[in-house]
Amino acid sequence: MGKSIVILGSQWGDEGKGKIIDLLMRDASVVVRFQGGHNAGHTLVNQGEKTILRLIPSGIMHSHVQCLIGNGVVLSPTALIQEMGELERRGIAVSERLRISEACILVMPYHVALDQAREKAKGKSAIGTTGRGIGPAYEDKVARRAIRFNDLFDEKYFCAKLEEVLDYHNFILQNYHQHTPIDYNQLRDNLLAEVPQLRPLKADIVALLAEYQAQDKNIIFEGAQGTLLDIDHGTYPYVTSSNTVAGAASIGTGYGIRHLNYIMGVVKSYSTRVGSGPFPTELQDDIGKQLASRGNEFGSVTGRPRRCGWLDMVGLHRSIQLNSFSSICVSKLDVLDELETIRICTGYRLHGKTIQIPPADAKSLDECEPIYEDWAGWRQSTAGISKYENLPQKAKQYLSRIEELAGVPIALISTGPDRNEVIVLQHPFQEK
Ligand code: IMP
Repeated sequence: MGKSIVILGSQWGDEGKGKIIDLLMRDASVVVRFQGGHNAGHTLVNQGEKTILRLIPSGIMHSHVQCLIGNGVVLSPTALIQEMGELERRGIAVSERLRISEACILVMPYHVALDQAREKAKGKSAIGTTGRGIGPAYEDKVARRAIRFNDLFDEKYFCAKLEEVLDYHNFILQNYHQHTPIDYNQLRDNLLAEVPQLRPLKADIVALLAEYQAQDKNIIFEGAQGTLLDIDHGTYPYVTSSNTVAGAASIGTGYGIRHLNYIMGVVKSYSTRVGSGPFPTELQDDIGKQLASRGNEFGSVTGRPRRCGWLDMVGLHRSIQLNSFSSICVSKLDVLDELETIRICTGYRLHGKTIQIPPADAKSLDECEPIYEDWAGWRQSTAGISKYENLPQKAKQYLSRIEELAGVPIALISTGPDRNEVIVLQHPFQEK
């Protein structure tokens, strides 16, 4: 029987999902993105060669894999064409293997302008978005005014709709943000010029996935961002504008929820966050800097430095509740190699009380003080180790403690950026 596996970030994104999806693609024939847009940055390294994917699913490097983009994704046609061009120039066939839902919402230049103008206006209270127009595009979807992928292929309808929507957004850009308006003719012509390249990509993703499921194919649902950035369950308002939890895999593709049979959460062995928002275990000291430099913690899309801190089991526990993980993958273990002491946050103190459940509002979360337990570091290299027995004893103890606190088995341990730098304890596609 085929298996449908969801792979998600269980923290604030950048857990290393791309690498894990790329690795598991050997055993799957389909991969589908279900939320987010080109705010994502999924890094794959194969034999030292690095590829950063933003919109195109992380299976594209495997020639046998069909890559799908579901309705839950917000799609910038320009970013897509640029990314396809980058891959095709490297000899990777994309257009034959990529299919996009007709219902995807388009991210337009006016969304980008609005996102950036708003962030600028917010000053110190800015969210710290990627500035890619993701929030405004999702707003248009909910407001039922968005232009969808399918609209591009009916020129008359598309032009009328674009004119109407642009008129609305230009009013806000000009009057509220004192921004120069976006020129309709130029935008229309740019988009229509992209249509011939985009038309062959459109597909009924709901039907395709149902067909693959009936053919017993192994399918991977590729999450973007991370659970704690979820629009409903994350550290609101410091979140992205989509649902990033496992349930979104069904909604964002139209895949029957009963067919999803395994959910893996990728957990970085410490924590990082890009942009603003509460981060109880954040380290402002040299250890934070050491994690950032050893872990190369710079946004793969924006290049912004990521904030670093200790592993937070309170946040992870909430993530486990939200996603019902079948297993977890602990990533970037090697980044901790040189530390003398490694801390795990097991609770928070808030207003004199110890709590194990994160408060719902960002302000209270910001006031939480972490309660730590300390573990001795192993102080030897784990880089590239692919057999569990070769790990230092203290690294094994750290991992066992994570597993014990999480109450979810560790299936994979990632020990470096390359596809093969991984310990496989339980293979998700081979599990019963
Ligand atoms: P937006 O998704 O661009 O609206 O940004 C909202 C928040 O999500 C900001 O804090 C971003 O830094 C964060 N974010 C968006 N995409 C990613 C990602 O792929 N990795 C990590 N953080 C992200």
